Amino acid sequence: MKIVVIGGSGLIGSKLVERLRQLGHETIAASPALGVNTITGEGLADVLKDTQVVVDVANSPSFEDQAVLEFFKTSGRNLLAAEEAAGVKHHLALSVVGTDRLAESGYFRGKIAQETLIKASKMPYTIVRSTQFFEFLGGIAQSGTVGQTVRLSPAYVQPIASEDVATALADFTLGAPYNGTVEIAGPERFRLSEMVQRYLIAMNDRKTVIPDVHARYFGAELSDLMLVPGANPRLGTVNFETWFERQKMPA
Ligand SMILES: NC(=O)c1ccc[n+]([C@@H]2O[C@H](COP(=O)([O-])OP(=O)(O)OC[C@H]3O[C@@H](n4cnc5c(N)ncnc54)[C@H](OP(=O)(O)O)[C@@H]3O)[C@@H](O)[C@H]2O)c1
Repeated sequence: MKIVVIGGSGLIGSKLVERLRQLGHETIAASPALGVNTITGEGLADVLKDTQVVVDVANSPSFEDQAVLEFFKTSGRNLLAAEEAAGVKHHLALSVVGTDRLAESGYFRGKIAQETLIKASKMPYTIVRSTQFFEFLGGIAQSGTVGQTVRLSPAYVQPIASEDVATALADFTLGAPYNGTVEIAGPERFRLSEMVQRYLIAMNDRKTVIPDVHARYFGAELSDLMLVPGANPRLGTVNFETWFERQKMPA
């Protein structure tokens, strides 16, 4: 089976490519640095020749509201059209748990547009919605930082390790199209403000997290359950302690 991973050089993409290759599948990592660009169309038709499955784990280079929306709209349109033309049999995309509840956020309006294009296309598909990656906790902390304080919502989160995301994505990639949305999450639930405080302490960062129910998460005010999955998500096995210990080890 030939599989193309769009965004195959990224955090999730590189782990997914490695795993699929280990399982014996011909897997091509595609990204602008590797000559494939879903915005300009460069290299797209060529890389998709004789491809059965495409996994889209690309991300917008800019998180500015309009730029994200344009990225996911243009990339989604170009990619789905090229897949149809090439006769691809299954399109998978990585999205975020709660995306449909987060339209107040510019970033999530981009993800909603990406999901809407997939559902409206003729491609058999699987949308995999993940919770926040442990690797993203630093970015979340930064988004709420002013001086030495970090203001964050105390809404619940259930973060997941990128390796668990890649393992789950590989399984869905090798399965039949779900023609719907599946959810994946980490093994433990915390309040976002507490999780980030714990992360900062582990990093020897002396900043203090202040829980604030009105603090916005990339533009959206959160209620308690907005970022956590519904019934029966697939759960990863790596918890925060294990993930953090592994970060300290040389690759
Ligand atoms: N962060 C989280 O907690 C979280 C949670 C759930 C879901 N997600 C989703 O997970 C996905 C992957 O995130 P990530 O952190 O692995 O991303 P990442 O490390 O930032 O990697 C992004 C990838 O997208 C590629 N890319 C950028 N522009 C492109 C273009 N025009 N054409 C083709 N590829 C392009 C990049 O290629 P170059 O390196 O060549 O530029 C890179 O390979 C995103 O869609 C995100 O919404 C994230």
